[in-house]
Amino acid sequence: MIDKINQLKAEIEALSAANAQEVEALRIKYLSKKGEISALMADFRTVPAEQKRELGQKLNELKTLATDKLNAMREALEQTDNLSDDFDLSRSAAPMPLGSRHPLSLVKNEIISIFSRLGFTIAEGPEIEDDWHVFSSLNFAEDHPARDMQDTFFIQRNPDVLLRTHTSSVQSRVMEKTQPPIRIICPGRVYRNEAISARAHCFFHQVEALYVDKNVSFADLRQTLLYFAREMFGPETKIRLRPSYFPFTEPSAEMDISCNLCGGKGCSFCKHTGWVEILGCGMVDPNVLEACGIDSKVYNGFALGMGVERITNLKYQVKDLRMFSENDVRFLEQFQAAH
Ligand code: DAH
Repeated sequence: MIDKINQLKAEIEALSAANAQEVEALRIKYLSKKGEISALMADFRTVPAEQKRELGQKLNELKTLATDKLNAMREALEQTDNLSDDFDLSRSAAPMPLGSRHPLSLVKNEIISIFSRLGFTIAEGPEIEDDWHVFSSLNFAEDHPARDMQDTFFIQRNPDVLLRTHTSSVQSRVMEKTQPPIRIICPGRVYRNEAISARAHCFFHQVEALYVDKNVSFADLRQTLLYFAREMFGPETKIRLRPSYFPFTEPSAEMDISCNLCGGKGCSFCKHTGWVEILGCGMVDPNVLEACGIDSKVYNGFALGMGVERITNLKYQVKDLRMFSENDVRFLEQFQAAH
Protein backbone atom coordinates (compact mmCIF):
# COMPACT_ATOMS: atom_id res chain seq x y z
CA MET A 1 0.00 0.00 0.00
CA ILE A 2 2.85 2.36 0.79
CA ASP A 3 4.10 1.92 -2.78
CA LYS A 4 0.72 2.78 -4.18
CA ILE A 5 0.58 5.95 -2.03
CA ASN A 6 4.04 7.04 -3.20
CA GLN A 7 3.18 6.35 -6.81
CA LEU A 8 -0.04 8.41 -6.59
CA LYS A 9 1.85 11.20 -4.83
CA ALA A 10 4.37 11.48 -7.68
CA GLU A 11 1.55 11.33 -10.23
CA ILE A 12 -0.45 14.08 -8.54
CA GLU A 13 2.53 16.39 -8.12
CA ALA A 14 3.15 16.22 -11.87
CA LEU A 15 -0.47 16.88 -12.89
CA SER A 16 -1.37 19.60 -15.35
CA ALA A 17 -4.56 20.64 -17.13
CA ALA A 18 -5.38 22.92 -20.01
CA ASN A 19 -8.92 23.84 -18.95
CA ALA A 20 -11.59 23.49 -16.26
CA GLN A 21 -13.02 20.27 -17.75
CA GLU A 22 -9.66 18.55 -17.48
CA VAL A 23 -9.37 19.61 -13.84
CA GLU A 24 -12.83 18.19 -13.16
CA ALA A 25 -11.87 14.88 -14.83
CA LEU A 26 -8.79 14.67 -12.60
CA ARG A 27 -10.90 15.39 -9.52
CA ILE A 28 -13.17 12.49 -10.43
CA LYS A 29 -10.18 10.25 -11.09
CA TYR A 30 -8.54 10.88 -7.72
CA LEU A 31 -10.99 12.36 -5.25
CA SER A 32 -14.53 11.23 -6.13
CA LYS A 33 -16.21 8.40 -4.20
CA LYS A 34 -15.02 5.92 -6.80
CA GLY A 35 -11.65 7.59 -7.24
CA GLU A 36 -8.22 6.17 -6.55
CA ILE A 37 -7.73 7.82 -3.17
CA SER A 38 -11.17 6.69 -1.97
CA ALA A 39 -10.24 3.15 -3.04
CA LEU A 40 -7.09 3.34 -0.90
CA MET A 41 -9.19 4.61 2.02
CA ALA A 42 -11.41 1.55 1.64
CA ASP A 43 -8.33 -0.76 1.64
CA PHE A 44 -7.11 0.96 4.76
CA ARG A 45 -9.48 -1.17 6.84
CA THR A 46 -7.44 -4.25 5.98
CA VAL A 47 -4.11 -2.73 7.09
CA PRO A 48 -2.53 -4.41 10.16
CA ALA A 49 -3.05 -2.39 13.37
CA GLU A 50 0.67 -1.58 13.89
CA GLN A 51 0.88 0.10 10.41
CA LYS A 52 -2.37 2.03 10.73
CA ARG A 53 -0.84 5.10 12.35
CA GLU A 54 1.88 5.63 9.72
CA LEU A 55 -0.25 4.76 6.71
CA GLY A 56 -3.23 6.78 7.96
CA GLN A 57 -1.06 9.85 8.20
CA LYS A 58 0.36 9.26 4.69
CA LEU A 59 -3.10 8.74 3.23
CA ASN A 60 -4.37 11.97 4.76
CA GLU A 61 -1.35 13.84 3.39
CA LEU A 62 -2.05 12.40 -0.05
CA LYS A 63 -5.67 13.52 0.09
CA THR A 64 -4.67 17.06 1.14
CA LEU A 65 -2.01 17.17 -1.59
CA ALA A 66 -4.57 16.17 -4.25
CA THR A 67 -7.18 18.67 -2.99
CA ASP A 68 -4.65 21.55 -2.84
CA LYS A 69 -3.16 20.72 -6.22
CA LEU A 70 -6.54 20.63 -7.98
CA ASN A 71 -7.66 23.87 -6.31
CA ALA A 72 -4.44 25.60 -7.33
CA MET A 73 -4.89 24.40 -10.93
CA ARG A 74 -8.47 25.69 -10.97
CA GLU A 75 -7.46 29.11 -9.64
CA ALA A 76 -4.58 29.46 -12.08
CA LEU A 77 -6.93 28.70 -14.97
CA GLU A 78 -9.53 31.23 -13.71
CA GLN A 79 -6.89 33.93 -13.59
CA THR A 80 -5.66 33.34 -17.11
CA ASP A 81 -9.30 33.30 -18.26
CA ASN A 82 -9.79 36.77 -16.75
CA LEU A 83 -6.54 37.98 -18.23
CA SER A 84 -7.53 36.96 -21.68
CA ASP A 85 -10.81 38.87 -21.21
CA ASP A 86 -8.87 42.03 -20.34
CA PHE A 87 -6.75 41.65 -23.40
CA ASP A 88 -9.69 41.65 -25.75
CA LEU A 89 -8.46 44.43 -28.00
CA SER A 90 -11.84 44.78 -29.71
CA ARG A 91 -13.50 45.94 -26.48
CA SER A 92 -14.33 49.66 -26.29
CA ALA A 93 -12.27 51.56 -23.76
CA ALA A 94 -13.70 52.66 -20.41
CA PRO A 95 -14.81 56.30 -20.75
CA MET A 96 -12.26 58.77 -19.34
CA PRO A 97 -13.83 62.13 -18.50
CA LEU A 98 -11.59 65.00 -19.62
CA GLY A 99 -11.27 68.07 -17.42
CA SER A 100 -11.31 71.60 -18.75
CA ARG A 101 -8.97 74.51 -18.17
CA HIS A 102 -9.93 77.12 -15.60
CA PRO A 103 -11.25 80.25 -17.36
CA LEU A 104 -8.61 82.39 -15.62
CA SER A 105 -5.86 80.10 -16.93
CA LEU A 106 -7.31 80.28 -20.43
CA VAL A 107 -7.33 84.08 -20.39
CA LYS A 108 -3.93 84.33 -18.72
CA ASN A 109 -2.45 82.03 -21.37
CA GLU A 110 -4.03 84.10 -24.11
CA ILE A 111 -2.53 87.32 -22.66
CA ILE A 112 0.87 85.63 -22.43
CA SER A 113 0.66 84.37 -25.99
CA ILE A 114 -0.24 87.84 -27.35
CA PHE A 115 2.70 89.48 -25.57
CA SER A 116 5.06 86.68 -26.50
CA ARG A 117 4.35 87.47 -30.15
CA LEU A 118 5.85 90.90 -29.36
CA GLY A 119 8.97 89.32 -27.86
CA PHE A 120 8.00 89.42 -24.17
CA THR A 121 9.14 86.50 -22.01
CA ILE A 122 7.66 85.30 -18.72
CA ALA A 123 9.12 86.34 -15.37
CA GLU A 124 7.80 85.26 -11.99
CA GLY A 125 8.33 86.33 -8.39
CA PRO A 126 7.23 85.27 -4.90
CA GLU A 127 3.72 85.88 -3.53
CA ILE A 128 5.11 86.45 -0.04
CA GLU A 129 7.11 89.64 -0.52
CA ASP A 130 8.87 92.40 1.35
CA ASP A 131 8.07 96.10 1.53
CA TRP A 132 10.99 97.01 -0.73
CA HIS A 133 9.81 95.07 -3.79
CA VAL A 134 6.09 95.82 -3.44
CA PHE A 135 6.33 99.49 -2.40
CA SER A 136 9.61 101.27 -1.70
CA SER A 137 11.51 100.28 -4.86
CA LEU A 138 8.43 101.29 -6.86
CA ASN A 139 8.59 104.86 -5.60
CA PHE A 140 5.89 104.62 -2.92
CA ALA A 141 7.03 107.20 -0.32
CA GLU A 142 7.01 105.97 3.28
CA ASP A 143 3.91 107.95 4.24
CA HIS A 144 2.32 108.17 0.82
CA PRO A 145 -1.43 107.54 0.80
CA ALA A 146 -0.97 105.33 -2.27
CA ARG A 147 0.10 102.60 0.15
CA ASP A 148 -3.45 102.68 1.49
CA MET A 149 -4.89 102.34 -2.00
CA GLN A 150 -3.97 98.69 -1.77
CA ASP A 151 -5.24 97.08 1.40
CA THR A 152 -2.20 95.06 2.25
CA PHE A 153 -2.08 91.83 4.24
CA PHE A 154 0.91 92.14 6.57
CA ILE A 155 2.46 89.37 8.61
CA GLN A 156 1.58 90.67 12.06
CA ARG A 157 4.91 90.26 13.79
CA ASN A 158 6.96 91.70 10.94
CA PRO A 159 5.39 94.47 8.84
CA ASP A 160 8.23 94.09 6.34
CA VAL A 161 6.77 90.74 5.26
CA LEU A 162 3.55 90.96 3.28
CA LEU A 163 1.46 89.31 0.58
CA ARG A 164 2.10 91.13 -2.67
CA THR A 165 -0.74 93.45 -3.64
CA HIS A 166 0.34 93.63 -7.27
CA THR A 167 2.65 91.86 -9.70
CA SER A 168 4.58 95.13 -10.19
CA SER A 169 6.91 93.70 -7.51
CA VAL A 170 8.28 91.34 -10.17
CA GLN A 171 9.41 94.40 -12.18
CA SER A 172 11.84 95.48 -9.50
CA ARG A 173 13.06 91.94 -8.88
CA VAL A 174 13.93 91.53 -12.56
CA MET A 175 15.45 95.02 -12.96
CA GLU A 176 17.69 94.47 -9.91
CA LYS A 177 19.17 91.40 -11.57
CA THR A 178 19.13 92.29 -15.27
CA GLN A 179 20.37 95.21 -17.32
CA PRO A 180 18.25 96.34 -20.31
CA PRO A 181 16.99 95.48 -22.80
CA ILE A 182 14.22 93.99 -20.64
CA ARG A 183 10.95 92.80 -22.11
CA ILE A 184 8.99 90.73 -19.61
CA ILE A 185 5.48 89.68 -18.78
CA CYS A 186 4.68 88.72 -15.18
CA PRO A 187 1.52 86.70 -14.53
CA GLY A 188 0.60 85.85 -10.95
CA ARG A 189 -1.73 85.91 -7.96
CA VAL A 190 -2.04 88.98 -5.75
CA TYR A 191 -3.74 89.59 -2.41
CA ARG A 192 -5.71 92.48 -0.91
CA ASN A 193 -7.56 92.76 2.36
CA GLU A 194 -11.03 93.29 0.88
CA ALA A 195 -14.40 92.04 2.04
CA ILE A 196 -15.38 89.22 -0.33
CA SER A 197 -18.36 90.06 -2.56
CA ALA A 198 -19.49 89.63 -6.16
CA ARG A 199 -17.19 92.50 -7.16
CA ALA A 200 -14.16 92.09 -4.87
CA HIS A 201 -12.07 89.22 -3.55
CA CYS A 202 -9.14 88.91 -1.16
CA PHE A 203 -7.07 87.37 -3.94
CA PHE A 204 -7.09 87.80 -7.68
CA HIS A 205 -4.71 87.62 -10.64
CA GLN A 206 -2.72 90.16 -12.57
CA VAL A 207 -0.45 90.27 -15.55
CA GLU A 208 2.23 92.92 -15.59
CA ALA A 209 4.35 93.90 -18.59
CA LEU A 210 7.62 95.81 -18.53
CA TYR A 211 9.75 97.08 -21.38
CA VAL A 212 13.01 98.89 -20.68
CA ASP A 213 15.51 99.88 -23.36
CA LYS A 214 17.05 102.97 -24.96
CA ASN A 215 14.59 105.44 -26.52
CA VAL A 216 11.33 103.79 -25.54
CA SER A 217 8.48 106.22 -26.18
CA PHE A 218 4.87 106.66 -25.14
CA ALA A 219 4.00 105.84 -28.75
CA ASP A 220 5.58 102.38 -28.26
CA LEU A 221 3.36 101.90 -25.23
CA ARG A 222 0.26 103.01 -27.07
CA GLN A 223 0.95 100.76 -30.05
CA THR A 224 1.58 97.79 -27.76
CA LEU A 225 -1.73 98.46 -26.00
CA LEU A 226 -3.63 98.75 -29.27
CA TYR A 227 -2.12 95.49 -30.55
CA PHE A 228 -3.02 93.74 -27.31
CA ALA A 229 -6.62 95.07 -27.26
CA ARG A 230 -7.28 94.04 -30.87
CA GLU A 231 -5.76 90.59 -30.48
CA MET A 232 -7.70 90.01 -27.28
CA PHE A 233 -11.08 91.54 -28.09
CA GLY A 234 -11.19 91.63 -31.88
CA PRO A 235 -9.88 93.88 -34.69
CA GLU A 236 -12.70 96.44 -34.32
CA THR A 237 -11.73 97.27 -30.74
CA LYS A 238 -10.90 100.91 -30.00
CA ILE A 239 -8.76 102.11 -27.10
CA ARG A 240 -8.54 105.37 -25.20
CA LEU A 241 -6.03 106.53 -22.59
CA ARG A 242 -7.03 108.69 -19.63
CA PRO A 243 -4.44 110.45 -17.44
CA SER A 244 -4.05 108.76 -14.06
CA TYR A 245 -1.62 108.38 -11.20
CA PHE A 246 0.65 105.50 -10.13
CA PRO A 247 3.77 106.09 -8.03
CA PHE A 248 5.91 103.94 -10.34
CA THR A 249 5.01 105.55 -13.67
CA GLU A 250 5.21 109.12 -14.97
CA PRO A 251 3.17 109.97 -16.91
CA SER A 252 0.53 107.38 -15.96
CA ALA A 253 -2.65 106.42 -17.73
CA GLU A 254 -5.61 104.11 -17.55
CA MET A 255 -6.72 102.36 -20.68
CA ASP A 256 -10.35 101.87 -21.67
CA ILE A 257 -11.52 99.73 -24.55
CA SER A 258 -14.74 100.18 -26.48
CA CYS A 259 -17.33 98.03 -24.71
CA ASN A 260 -17.35 94.70 -26.49
CA LEU A 261 -20.86 93.85 -25.25
CA CYS A 262 -22.63 96.75 -26.96
CA GLY A 263 -19.90 97.63 -29.45
CA GLY A 264 -19.56 101.08 -27.86
CA LYS A 265 -23.22 102.08 -28.15
CA GLY A 266 -23.75 102.06 -24.39
CA CYS A 267 -25.23 99.33 -22.15
CA SER A 268 -25.54 98.56 -18.48
CA PHE A 269 -22.15 96.79 -18.45
CA CYS A 270 -20.30 99.94 -19.56
CA LYS A 271 -22.67 102.15 -17.53
CA HIS A 272 -23.87 103.62 -20.83
CA THR A 273 -20.52 105.22 -21.58
CA GLY A 274 -19.49 102.85 -24.39
CA TRP A 275 -16.10 102.32 -22.68
CA VAL A 276 -14.76 99.93 -20.05
CA GLU A 277 -11.54 100.32 -18.10
CA ILE A 278 -9.13 97.43 -18.37
CA LEU A 279 -5.64 98.38 -17.25
CA GLY A 280 -3.16 100.85 -15.80
CA CYS A 281 0.05 101.86 -17.53
CA GLY A 282 2.69 104.52 -18.00
CA MET A 283 6.34 105.36 -18.57
CA VAL A 284 8.52 103.84 -15.85
CA ASP A 285 9.39 106.57 -13.32
CA PRO A 286 13.18 107.28 -13.41
CA ASN A 287 13.23 106.87 -9.61
CA VAL A 288 12.19 103.21 -10.07
CA LEU A 289 14.94 102.56 -12.61
CA GLU A 290 17.53 104.13 -10.30
CA ALA A 291 16.26 102.23 -7.23
CA CYS A 292 16.78 99.00 -9.17
CA GLY A 293 20.28 99.88 -10.41
CA ILE A 294 19.43 100.97 -13.97
CA ASP A 295 20.83 104.26 -15.30
CA SER A 296 17.79 106.43 -16.02
CA LYS A 297 19.84 108.80 -18.20
CA VAL A 298 20.54 105.98 -20.63
CA TYR A 299 17.42 103.87 -20.39
CA ASN A 300 13.70 104.40 -20.10
CA GLY A 301 10.67 102.17 -20.48
CA PHE A 302 6.99 101.54 -20.13
CA ALA A 303 4.96 99.30 -17.83
CA LEU A 304 1.39 98.13 -17.69
CA GLY A 305 -0.67 95.97 -15.39
CA MET A 306 -4.06 94.35 -15.76
CA GLY A 307 -6.44 92.17 -13.76
CA VAL A 308 -7.05 88.74 -15.30
CA GLU A 309 -10.52 88.47 -13.68
CA ARG A 310 -11.53 91.78 -15.25
CA ILE A 311 -10.48 90.67 -18.75
CA THR A 312 -12.20 87.31 -18.21
CA ASN A 313 -15.43 89.07 -17.15
CA LEU A 314 -15.32 91.10 -20.31
CA LYS A 315 -14.74 88.08 -22.51
CA TYR A 316 -17.18 85.72 -20.81
CA GLN A 317 -19.54 87.98 -18.80
CA VAL A 318 -18.97 86.27 -15.47
CA LYS A 319 -21.02 88.42 -13.09
CA ASP A 320 -19.78 87.16 -9.74
CA LEU A 321 -16.04 87.06 -8.93
CA ARG A 322 -16.58 84.38 -6.30
CA MET A 323 -17.40 81.80 -8.99
CA PHE A 324 -13.75 81.74 -10.03
CA SER A 325 -12.70 80.17 -6.75
CA GLU A 326 -15.69 77.97 -5.92
CA ASN A 327 -14.55 75.05 -8.10
CA ASP A 328 -18.06 74.21 -9.25
CA VAL A 329 -17.54 71.97 -12.29
CA ARG A 330 -20.85 73.12 -13.80
CA PHE A 331 -19.30 76.58 -14.04
CA LEU A 332 -15.79 75.46 -14.97
CA GLU A 333 -16.67 73.08 -17.80
CA GLN A 334 -18.32 75.84 -19.84
CA PHE A 335 -15.01 77.32 -20.95
CA GLN A 336 -13.05 76.16 -23.97
CA ALA A 337 -9.67 77.26 -25.23
CA ALA A 338 -9.96 79.53 -28.27
CA HIS A 339 -7.10 77.69 -30.03
N1 DAH B 1 0.09 97.74 -10.08
C1 DAH B 1 -1.12 98.43 -10.47
C2 DAH B 1 -2.28 97.89 -9.63
O1 DAH B 1 -2.17 96.86 -9.06
C3 DAH B 1 -1.39 98.20 -11.92
C4 DAH B 1 -0.42 98.91 -12.76
C5 DAH B 1 -0.66 100.21 -13.15
C6 DAH B 1 0.76 98.31 -13.17
C7 DAH B 1 0.22 100.90 -13.93
C8 DAH B 1 1.66 99.00 -13.96
C9 DAH B 1 1.38 100.29 -14.33
O2 DAH B 1 2.79 98.47 -14.40
O3 DAH B 1 2.26 100.95 -15.13
O4 DAH B 1 -3.29 98.52 -9.57
